[in-house]
Amino acid sequence: MATWVTGNVVQIKHWRDGLFSLIVHAPIYPFTAGQFTKIGMNINGNKIQRAYSYVNAPQNSNLEFYLIAVPNGKLSQALHKLQSGNQIMITKEAAGLFVLNKIPPCQNLWMIATGTAIGPYLSILEHGKELERFKRIILIYAVRFVHNLNYLPQMLKLQHRYNDKLQIQIIISQEKVPGYLMGRIPTLIANGSLELAVDLNLNAKNSHVMICGNPNMIVDTQQLLNNSRGMRKNSKYNPGHITIENYW
Ligand SMILES: Cc1cc2nc3c(=O)[nH]c(=O)nc-3n(C[C@H](O)[C@H](O)[C@H](O)COP(=O)(O)OP(=O)(O)OC[C@H]3O[C@@H](n4cnc5c(N)ncnc54)[C@H](O)[C@@H]3O)c2cc1C
Ligand SMILES: NC(=O)c1ccc[n+]([C@@H]2O[C@H](COP(=O)([O-])OP(=O)(O)OC[C@H]3O[C@@H](n4cnc5c(N)ncnc54)[C@H](OP(=O)(O)O)[C@@H]3O)[C@@H](O)[C@H]2O)c1
Repeated sequence: MATWVTGNVVQIKHWRDGLFSLIVHAPIYPFTAGQFTKIGMNINGNKIQRAYSYVNAPQNSNLEFYLIAVPNGKLSQALHKLQSGNQIMITKEAAGLFVLNKIPPCQNLWMIATGTAIGPYLSILEHGKELERFKRIILIYAVRFVHNLNYLPQMLKLQHRYNDKLQIQIIISQEKVPGYLMGRIPTLIANGSLELAVDLNLNAKNSHVMICGNPNMIVDTQQLLNNSRGMRKNSKYNPGHITIENYW
């Protein structure tokens, strides 16, 4: 049974298109970078709870979440209306296997995200542990518009920190922006544009792919990697090349 504690909202940053960042203080147990927790609120007498990934590194006491107010979404709409000083409920325990210590040995780690699912990668990269074993880390991030790149300054700082080891490739699906790819992740893998842009081959021999976010993107990408690259899902007893986290 999860242990629920009170979280105090210390900051809420509103971005465009219903995106927002929530910063909370709460007495949680330590978590592993890449994991999620549950946030809850009483709405019309009912406790509504949903999963949200930590954006902050485990050592940071500002618990940060990156959300989108889903149209007609029960909890995300209520969270969107919060102000600093308000309280929420949060589980002390984190959960999830979208963590580095579940990834089998490999040379190159590909981190693929859409929308708010950049969070777990920021947590992992800010934490900075267990990354020595990878030769290269390629962070692929797809959003609709360039104005949705709310964490770009933090991503660029991380790129600077990791130097040549971390490569970031932004994909914008709805507008053409110089320096960024345009389109959708599976299409850009299938037509070779993504590998050309990062100058690296994505294959089962030396790569592991983490994929997080939009479930349709995950299904399509996983199917493509399976059919065209012979990559299969990683599991405890059957090591593979793909680790996924579906957001809905
Ligand atoms: C492991 C995990 C981690 C997650 N981490 C995050 C996170 O860091 N940030 C975040 O914003 N969300 C995250 N989610 C999604 C989150 O748990 C909720 O599903 C989301 O906030 C919608 O909840 P709601 O109560 O507002 O909508 P609901 O009233 O539950 O339902 C709305 C409907 O919208 C769809 N939907 C749900 N989420 C989305 C979405 N993001 N975009 C489009 N459609 C959606 C679903 O089909 C759902 O049936 C995560 C989910 C999981 C399982
Ligand atoms: N961000 C906004 O501007 C906005 C505005 C109003 C409402 N919303 C709603 O908020 C929710 C989340 O929006 P979001 O923009 O954060 O996340 P999203 O819809 O998951 O989109 C993020 C990125 O994922 C891509 N994508 C979506 N489906 C895909 C698939 N099947 N395969 C590959 N790539 C795929 C999108 O490309 P495509 O652009 O090609 O889909 C986009 O580049 C949605 O319900 C949306 O309707 C978003």
